[in-house]
Amino acid sequence: MTRDTPLTSIYPGSFDPITKGHEDIVTRALALCDKLIVAVASHATHVKPGLFPVDARVDMIREVFRDERRVEATSFDGLLVDFARDRGASVIVRGLRAVSDFEYEFQMALMNRQLWPGIETVFLAPDSHYSYLSSSLVREIASLGGDVSEFVSPGVHARLASRFGQPNET
Ligand code: PNS
Repeated sequence: MTRDTPLTSIYPGSFDPITKGHEDIVTRALALCDKLIVAVASHATHVKPGLFPVDARVDMIREVFRDERRVEATSFDGLLVDFARDRGASVIVRGLRAVSDFEYEFQMALMNRQLWPGIETVFLAPDSHYSYLSSSLVREIASLGGDVSEFVSPGVHARLASRFGQPNET
């Protein structure tokens, strides 16, 4: 199938912080679209308390994908579908790690479509190596002195280390 206009997709989330699981989803999404906006939901939009400020999360994503010109990292306020429409994005990308993710994701996909019929949600499965990985586990392990270096990129690891101190020696 050929496209007349470039396909822009949006990968929204908390990304607190971005993990290698997220990176894997970005790489897979880039195979399907021309441009990917990795969009961090701002505090006003998203009620979960966070570890890193939204700007720092965006900076970490930019750093991880600094050599990939098709990835743009930014934050957004308000409804995701409004942001997507403003940015000319017609596809939302979400990672599905396990069946337990499905109900919430399916509900969001249908609600987003109800809010704006111009949006389609695509679910991508990560590499099975990352199916157990989440930002919340990374935060918890790092806060308790565990080593998360295999789960996040070096720049993210450095920020976690400066926040919580170096991991325990084993
Ligand atoms: O990584 P997360 O925390 O699972 O991401 C959830 C997120 C940010 C994608 C979702 O909460 C969202 O889209 N928030 C923006 C506000 C919005 O549009 N809410 C209606 C969703 S149906």
